[in-house]
Amino acid sequence: MKVSRKVLGAAIGALLAGTVSAYADTIKVGIIGPFSGPFALQGKNFQAGVEAYMALNGKSVKGHDIEVIYRDLPAANPAQSRALAQELVVKDKVQYLGGVYFTPDAMAITPLLKQANVPLVIFNAATSAIMTQSPLVVRTSFTTAQTTTPLGKIAVERGVKKVISAVSDYGPGVDAEVAFKKAFEAAGGQVVEAIRMPLNTNDFSPIMQRIRDSGAEAVFAFLPSGPTTLGFVKAYNETGLKQAGIKFFAPGDLTQESDLPALGDGALGLMTTFHYAVSHDSPENKTFVEAASKAIGGADQLSFPSVGAYDGMHVIYKMIEATDGKQDAQKAVDAVKGLSWTSPRGPVSIDAETRHITENIYLREVTKGADGKTYNKEIQTFPNQKDPGLATQ
Ligand code: PHB
Repeated sequence: MKVSRKVLGAAIGALLAGTVSAYADTIKVGIIGPFSGPFALQGKNFQAGVEAYMALNGKSVKGHDIEVIYRDLPAANPAQSRALAQELVVKDKVQYLGGVYFTPDAMAITPLLKQANVPLVIFNAATSAIMTQSPLVVRTSFTTAQTTTPLGKIAVERGVKKVISAVSDYGPGVDAEVAFKKAFEAAGGQVVEAIRMPLNTNDFSPIMQRIRDSGAEAVFAFLPSGPTTLGFVKAYNETGLKQAGIKFFAPGDLTQESDLPALGDGALGLMTTFHYAVSHDSPENKTFVEAASKAIGGADQLSFPSVGAYDGMHVIYKMIEATDGKQDAQKAVDAVKGLSWTSPRGPVSIDAETRHITENIYLREVTKGADGKTYNKEIQTFPNQKDPGLATQ
């Protein structure tokens, strides 16, 4: 093979300058998420976050090209999740795993990480205990304990003394129920009844009846974002609970921006706490929303999984930088312990002990903007919240 002097000269120059490795290589990153089915928009938000990050920060790290491989997991399915992760590691030879929307799917992957020598960077799955399953997990989303703890005090401050809680009956729902109750009762409130709804519930009218019959002044709710949350909030709006004056407190999963058009004016006034609003006012978020909107095909489709993915890619890029492309999962994870940066959501860091993200939690209210569209307006900030979840169990 003949190589021109010019090309050879440039390559040697780059080598001497230390900007490229001796051999151009490709680092593969496997992303698992719901890219089809009822939760497809959540997966598309993962992809939009990844693409936005790569568009703004380049597609290589220290001369190592980054290739992202997406694998579709439409619904919570631990066996399929494990099979996809295994295939990505063994067949596709990925050095990093990322994504994962549902908790049971993340739980199913953690036992593989050590032998595979692969870190898992979770973009969403929000149960506190996932972090205890493997030292090779880092999380850039939130936990439901983290997002709901500030709500306990907020509810009491707004004159609410009796609450009924209604949560999806699995990890993040149980964590939300426990964390809210702890904070609410510490502030002087009382949870009069706790409903756990099967994950596949789609007729919420019997639940609304139980809420009405309980005598509570407010409902606290958690369900995983998607068709589930839309159905629940619609039922709250349309079965008379709202008119009856029963207040509503929930984490922001229940008012994700991509659901707001379908909820219409019925969503006005809904109070939620969360780590990210698409409307967050900062230069970093403006840049992010522009890039992610382009990737997903319109700002109205964006919601929180995009920012978990964007920051997840930031963490993976830092891991690749620290290991210079070599496969060393423990070294990669150790390199991001204590890492801090300015995310589109605000200031964040990776807690060195738990490997979970420390972030601001915001109180928001669904409000109508000057353009006539509803949005989550941030009205109060709870700064630098760690995950209190493991302590409450
Ligand atoms: C989860 O399964 O951990 C999960 C899914 C969707 C959410 C929150 C948590 O909105």
